[in-house]
Amino acid sequence: MAAMDATSGYDRMKELKEFDESKMGVKGLSDSGITSIPRFFVHPPETLSDFKNSSSTCTNIPIIDLSGIINSKDNDHRLKIVEQVKEAAKTWGFFQVINHGVPISVIDETIHAIKAFHDQPHEVKAKYYKRENELGGVMYTSNNDLYRAKSAAWHDSLQAWMGPEPLKVADLPEICRNEVVAWDKSATEVAETVMELLCEGLGLEAGKFKELTFLDARVLVGHCYPYCPQPDLTVGITSHTDPGVITVLLQNHVPGLQVKHGDEWVNVKPVPGGLIINAGDFLQIISNGEYKSVQHRVLANSSKEARISIVIFFNLAKWKGDGYHGPLPELLSSKKPAIYRNFSRQEFVENFYSKGIDTKSLIEKIKIQN
Ligand code: OGA
Ligand code: NI
Repeated sequence: MAAMDATSGYDRMKELKEFDESKMGVKGLSDSGITSIPRFFVHPPETLSDFKNSSSTCTNIPIIDLSGIINSKDNDHRLKIVEQVKEAAKTWGFFQVINHGVPISVIDETIHAIKAFHDQPHEVKAKYYKRENELGGVMYTSNNDLYRAKSAAWHDSLQAWMGPEPLKVADLPEICRNEVVAWDKSATEVAETVMELLCEGLGLEAGKFKELTFLDARVLVGHCYPYCPQPDLTVGITSHTDPGVITVLLQNHVPGLQVKHGDEWVNVKPVPGGLIINAGDFLQIISNGEYKSVQHRVLANSSKEARISIVIFFNLAKWKGDGYHGPLPELLSSKKPAIYRNFSRQEFVENFYSKGIDTKSLIEKIKIQN
């Protein structure tokens, strides 16, 4: 692609750079009162027409009530919940958990603190703004994949690696420091419970995923989707699948998240106190296709109030001795042969970081063709 559009004289790279170097993020653009968005945010007609194709019939992703399994030994009840989790992870790849044991005050404080970070003047946030060093530490940026994606999206993010190396807590912005640390702890407890249920759903020991270090490499991302003056021309987050094991997502009451179910895009209605869980590519692969990593996206926010979401991506921390991972041997038999080949850590990381989130996932690449 030519850097300069010969007919119009539009220099996309120059505009991207100016935006990036201003460190103002989309929140800064939104707050400045602009009425039209810069051209590099505008998505092609194919993407935009697909956004008109959202479902209004289907109401929500499955909601799973975890009360009765937290601190309880009622085995029959647990088996029912395992069934629900298994079914949801197989058919939707997404579900919402309620009564998960995290106090509502912790949830509210987390959302409030991340919103407070993004609400600061951009001169204050600018000191955290960077783009390098994506595999550790703390960074604030607009569009992780700004220079790699075909079109930019209307969100800014504060990102922190919470593990496996302990984060230097002092590196976190003070305005949300304690809340980020507390949220990581609470969300990890919920993730542990959910991973146990997912393991049992596959017929594995409940503690198998923990043992495989799936709780240890955590990236916490506090997204802000500010008001967008032209929400029909861009997106909040481009359609993608998450690369890791599972993702735990907390959102405020401003809607926008959509999940692909069959050929339809289903709106995920915010449920007060609910946490959204979704399976990532890594889980689909190691479960040999049993659990699904599905496409999801966020609409550009047309509400004056910002949409806030806090996600934690759970990834494995320790690659096996030979450096490879693939479908778990326990799940394979002559009746159920591996449908994916093993892949290396390098392939996993490169696949994610070499391009925009909008392109093909690792899953397609390592599928065994018959
Ligand atoms: C993500 C993601 C959705 C949201 O960060 O991978 O899908 O609601 N976020 O912010
Ligand atoms: Ni995602």
